[in-house]
Amino acid sequence: MSDVAVAGGGLIGLATAWRAARRGLSVTVVDDSPGTGASAAAAGMLAPVTEAGYREEALLRLGLASVQRWPAFAADVEAASGTSVGLRTAGTLVVGFDEDDVRELTALHAFQTELGLAAERLTPRESRRREPSLTPRVRGGLLVAGDHSVDGRALHAALLVAAQAAGVRLVRDRVTELRVVGGRAVGLETADGGALAAGTVVLALGAHSGRLPRVPPLPVRPVKGQILRLAGATDLLEGTVRALVRGRQVYLVPYAGDRLIVGATTEDRGFDPTVTAGGVHDLLHDAIDVVPGVSELELVETLARWRPGTPDNAPLLGPGPLPGLVLATGHHRNGVLLTPVTAEVTAELLATGVLPEVAAPFTTDRFGR
Ligand code: GLY
Repeated sequence: MSDVAVAGGGLIGLATAWRAARRGLSVTVVDDSPGTGASAAAAGMLAPVTEAGYREEALLRLGLASVQRWPAFAADVEAASGTSVGLRTAGTLVVGFDEDDVRELTALHAFQTELGLAAERLTPRESRRREPSLTPRVRGGLLVAGDHSVDGRALHAALLVAAQAAGVRLVRDRVTELRVVGGRAVGLETADGGALAAGTVVLALGAHSGRLPRVPPLPVRPVKGQILRLAGATDLLEGTVRALVRGRQVYLVPYAGDRLIVGATTEDRGFDPTVTAGGVHDLLHDAIDVVPGVSELELVETLARWRPGTPDNAPLLGPGPLPGLVLATGHHRNGVLLTPVTAEVTAELLATGVLPEVAAPFTTDRFGR
């Protein structure tokens, strides 16, 4: 019997388990293949400002709270694991490719300014001074110095070490069902027929959170993203570049010396795992339009995974729909960014029974019953 069973060993599940173990709780994480879901596909952007959407101010505040925690969180994970998580603090440049794209950039900047966010308009020349590999066709830019990135896979590997060093037990098996007795979550059942008893269950199954048997319906749906990894990009970019290219969005995130992530599609296609010719084409076409040097790089990986989408694009945190069940899911486009704040508030809830104020707007009862 554990104090806590965490269903899902992705970034959210592992970080939560680690923080809870540090609070003195006995914690077991169950996952047959930790880190191969959305965590494997994540570009690693810590980008509350450049990901901010209209009418998503609450999510923005949570993102800003988490990005502030990132430097200390990264240092802590690195100290506990002895490995780097690849935090880059070079900021993010958003560029517009044609006149319509720049008009959209202007509207975005007005929205950011209205919210008091730090974002600086750049001319095409200033944009290219910052990122010399940009095409001269770029029409304008927006520098967001506080939006950073981390190497999501390095982070997952580090969390696996840190969590286990803190006493977290990892069960490599597939979670098949929530165990419910007398209307209360009491553990997990697994594919090998085993059962794990726990005082509290944390649901951190990402896009799969909405379909675990015996969990009451949750508003989580898969939002497919196709993403590419390329090699040979040493010194190609200073920081993240996001671009609007004829109305379509693409981002380029440098990591690990010579690596570059290009992402990502956003598709409502259920759990379709297919990497499509059209998806890869659109991403490469737009990336090469903005940074022509991308055409020289080696394409080393293509991957499709599913963001855990919710109706308001914000996560589900705090007490779940059954006693004994806690939610740490629904992070949609912001799983890596929101990892520190999610782990912190969930561990606090598990250790004290009190959900910190910063997480209060994100309980599932905001959607009614
Ligand atoms: N945060 C980037 C994405 O979800 O594609």
